[in-house]
Amino acid sequence: MAGGFIEKGSSEKNYPGKLTFRVFITCVTAAFGGLIFGYDLGISGGVTSMDPFLKKFFPDVYAKEHNIKPTDNQYCKFDSQVLTLFTSSLYLAALVASIFASKVTRAFGRRLTMISGGVLFLAGAALNGFAQQVWMLIVGRMLLGFGIGCANQSVPIYVSEVAPYKYRGALNMLFQLAITIGIFVANILNYLFAKMENGEGWRYSLGLAGVPAIMIIIGAMFLPDSPNSLIERGQAEKAKEELIKIRGTDDVDEEFKDLVAASEASKQVKHPWSSLLKSEYRPHLTMAIAIPFFQQLTGMNVITFYAPVLFKTIGFGGTASLMSAMITGGCNALATLVSIFTVDKVGRRKLFLEGGAQMFICQLVIAAAIGSKFGTDGNPGVLPKWFALTVVVFICIYVAGFAWSWGPLGWLVPSEIFPLEVRSAAQSVNVSVNMIFTFAIAQVFTAMLCHMKFGLFIFFAFFVIVMSIFIYKFLPETKGVPIEEISLVWENHPYWNKFVKSSAQKNKIAAPDSQV
Ligand code: BGC
Repeated sequence: MAGGFIEKGSSEKNYPGKLTFRVFITCVTAAFGGLIFGYDLGISGGVTSMDPFLKKFFPDVYAKEHNIKPTDNQYCKFDSQVLTLFTSSLYLAALVASIFASKVTRAFGRRLTMISGGVLFLAGAALNGFAQQVWMLIVGRMLLGFGIGCANQSVPIYVSEVAPYKYRGALNMLFQLAITIGIFVANILNYLFAKMENGEGWRYSLGLAGVPAIMIIIGAMFLPDSPNSLIERGQAEKAKEELIKIRGTDDVDEEFKDLVAASEASKQVKHPWSSLLKSEYRPHLTMAIAIPFFQQLTGMNVITFYAPVLFKTIGFGGTASLMSAMITGGCNALATLVSIFTVDKVGRRKLFLEGGAQMFICQLVIAAAIGSKFGTDGNPGVLPKWFALTVVVFICIYVAGFAWSWGPLGWLVPSEIFPLEVRSAAQSVNVSVNMIFTFAIAQVFTAMLCHMKFGLFIFFAFFVIVMSIFIYKFLPETKGVPIEEISLVWENHPYWNKFVKSSAQKNKIAAPDSQV
């Protein structure tokens, strides 16, 4: 199998250290950053399907939805760029923030970036919850976006650095688990608040985003900075003390020495952004762009953002739609657990490939089911029970496939494959590309559904094939490789080895002996 070579143990390092309570608590707290992100991903779709919200802020959309006749084309009933802008604008703000967050993480540490993210997020949630006019909604969404940009830039890196390498995959996936729990909680709350008789339920849905924000602010205040980050900022002594505490053993000399060496090598790189363009970082840059791009092209966010809208389009009532969104949200969170328990055993590549096959099959079944009932004119007649059941079941299997592959791995793999010297910059590229395409899917989904009809699912199925081939051919396995040794996977890769510098060349530049 292409790329399976690293499993033979091309890394000889075996740093001592156990999964200490400190590490575990650290990772759990850091993962609250994922809760913030998830809550927001999941909340907007339900809110935009609530009539009182639409009537107050988007009266044209409300009128359009309610004036459509059952014999009209159902594919187009939610086609509104204003409505999708409410969901998508946040991801543009997140894009901008993730670029600045890279500078903040490098200069002040991952922890401070997390705290800043939490504060911005709290302000955004308050503005949204008390919104009286559309501008308050938009400014609130932008603040939320800035917060997400900060958290997504810092959390995955922080967890990867603090976790002992043997458990890095599973611990890092707590971030994705937190995302899915955030989405699921948002789905449940939307379902409950939509029932409020005074029509103000949307305020609670939007305002409660402040709760995970408070959790991350408090949590991050007590977190230690990662040893890598302390070394990067010239606090070697403190870094060693921290490493001893995190690993639960005094025997950290070898790991510490390697961390210092990696940091010294990274200082040679004065301009991480332009360095990323050098050919030696070609595999890293390619992955930082391709992985988030493909993650969004799975089409998962059509479900995350618009499940209630999608279910309403294909004939479900308002309550049934919010209920079905809750079911798919639950599948998403549960299936993420599978990934957590298997990723460090079966490895990243197998999960990517299995998840891809599962999503592909489901997308074809969903396209066939919707196509057979709605055809191209979007006029389904009476919908039988089997139809609703088939769509919900296959959407759940599809969501599960994503939840144990591209969902968590889309964040884990980029966080562990970059060398320290370009890690912050490359992670910013990763988050930015993710946000650009999250924005794009959020913005164009209703128009795509209106024009491509059931073919939309075939469109995403095509991309799932392309991304699976990409993983098969180009992604090396990173299971069980210490983060300081990660350059080996590229040196040993049959395609990428011509781009990267060998360790021997790097050591020559860094001259680590004089530093320790
Ligand atoms: C993705 C999000 C997606 C979520 C769904 C995350 O990994 O980045 O775009 O909404 O998974 O669970």
